[in-house]
Amino acid sequence: MMRNIHYQIDPTEFTGKRVLVTGGTKGMGNAMLHRLHNAGATVASTARSTAPENHPGLFICADVSVVSGTRHVIDTVMAHWGGLDILINNVGGSTAPGGGALGLSDEDWTQTLDTNLMAAVRLDRGFLPGMIARKSGVILHISSIQRRLPLFEATLAYAAAKAALSTYSKGLAKEMGPKGIRVNTLSPGFIETTAASALIERLADQQGSTLDAARDGLMQSLGGIPIGRPGRPDEVAELAAFLVSDRAMSVHGAEYTIDGGTVPTV
Ligand SMILES: NC(=O)c1ccc[n+]([C@@H]2O[C@H](COP(=O)([O-])OP(=O)(O)OC[C@H]3O[C@@H](n4cnc5c(N)ncnc54)[C@H](OP(=O)(O)O)[C@@H]3O)[C@@H](O)[C@H]2O)c1
Repeated sequence: MMRNIHYQIDPTEFTGKRVLVTGGTKGMGNAMLHRLHNAGATVASTARSTAPENHPGLFICADVSVVSGTRHVIDTVMAHWGGLDILINNVGGSTAPGGGALGLSDEDWTQTLDTNLMAAVRLDRGFLPGMIARKSGVILHISSIQRRLPLFEATLAYAAAKAALSTYSKGLAKEMGPKGIRVNTLSPGFIETTAASALIERLADQQGSTLDAARDGLMQSLGGIPIGRPGRPDEVAELAAFLVSDRAMSVHGAEYTIDGGTVPTV
């Protein structure tokens, strides 16, 4: 039985903070966007398709896996706000086919690296000069436990791209810490986003099984989840809100895993 989380949000904690969450129309990005908006932030997000009706703040339609898309996002944010205080690089994922390493073409690799690594690299590069000038700013990279626990059937390029993102984030933290900018990584395990729920429904359909059996099958493919369930987007949003807040002022160059205990090693 899953319990709802009860906590108090300080509606003024992020007052005056300009926050961009990429991929904020669905899943964890959407939960983070609303969490920070509810805590007083001025928010913006991006997606390739249109924003939902209840989207708070600025919405920028752009594909951040290509140079022109990240340029458009940077230009639009700068034109509206003149700078950014908090950047959450959340866009990521994989559309590569199954079939293992030999099923992956150069295009699959390039697309996956562009989406999961280069989008963040380019956006960081666009917003960092302003943060450095103000000697303040926070960057959060959304990686994945697959960077340490790679699956090979369809997501090997994704796992490798997330590993590169985590390593890049650590190095960037070392360089930017002395300049007043905090950089961290958040690595989720299996989180039941809308896309994950749709996948569970498809698997249940294909297998003629219940939703619970399909969800269990997915959990077993990860070696099981000790807490017995996937995480929820609002749980990830809570950790993200802490990491980008002043409450985490000395948390820097760190990677926080939120996976219900999935990764079996220290
Ligand atoms: N769900 C999980 O179990 C899980 C586990 C580990 C890590 N993660 C990571 O967590 C992050 C969020 O995952 P999620 O499951 O919440 O994603 P999601 O539900 O699939 O939502 C992705 C969001 O990003 C947008 N987006 C995707 N590609 C984009 C692009 N090229 N340019 C601009 N916007 C784009 C989507 O909108 P459009 O489609 O309209 O563009 C949507 O708003 C990703 O980095 C993912 O790799 C997820």
